[in-house]
Amino acid sequence: MNIPQHIAIIMDGNGRWAKQQGKPRNYGHLAGTENVRNIAIKADELGVKVLTLYAFSTENWKRPDDEVGYLMSLPAVFFRKFMKELMEKGVRIATIGNLDAVPEATRKVIEDAKRQTAENKGLTLVFAMNYGGRADIVQAANKAIAQGKTVLTEQDIEENLYTAGYPQIDLMIRTSLDYRLSNFLLWQLSYAELYFTDCYWPDFNEDRLTEAVEWFSNRERRFGGLK
Ligand code: IPE
Ligand code: IPE
Ligand code: MG
Repeated sequence: MNIPQHIAIIMDGNGRWAKQQGKPRNYGHLAGTENVRNIAIKADELGVKVLTLYAFSTENWKRPDDEVGYLMSLPAVFFRKFMKELMEKGVRIATIGNLDAVPEATRKVIEDAKRQTAENKGLTLVFAMNYGGRADIVQAANKAIAQGKTVLTEQDIEENLYTAGYPQIDLMIRTSLDYRLSNFLLWQLSYAELYFTDCYWPDFNEDRLTEAVEWFSNRERRFGGLK
């Protein structure tokens, strides 16, 4: 099987999953957070090098305060519960997005997890936290300008994106059957294979990931050329 080196996932549908069983939205967010552990470990087993997960977008601040607050408390829940196992598996934690605008306590938990896992050599698990694709391109351009560039090339942008240094994204998965990018990795997805599934994120299990990777494996990628 042709394994994607870098998979990005829009983990959508936590709210609908909860509603389906008559539970509050935050119940879905907790289930979704726990599912991250399963999918990260399975991705590592499959031989994926980098897994980038959309955890919170620059648009998600529009949600009610109590939901935003709950989402910001989840990194602490996740690392408290799974850090030991992530260390055993050699998972390295990273982030993309603007962490400066994230509440101090949340930022600290995330920075601690990054520090603690910095030397790990297994899967790189990247959380897109307060991430927006447009903001990413703008900050990359501004960094290049700060380096003294006046006319920017694609390479100048590429090298300054939050994702600089990671392999190209081969496969993008969105759960819950909305066919849009919602401002995720706009630059980086230019040649990714796009996979949409009706499954809500908390139900997207290891077998579903394997199915997506098998589907990817059968794509013919031409990158504009001919086969
Ligand atoms: C995805 O689930 C999680 C985040 C956006 C943080 P949603 O909360 O968007 O769930 P739905 O789309 O309302 O079902
Ligand atoms: C995208 O999902 C953001 C995350 C999964 C973190 P949304 O639920 O916010 O996207 P829209 O609002 O349906 O486009
Ligand atoms: Mg949603």
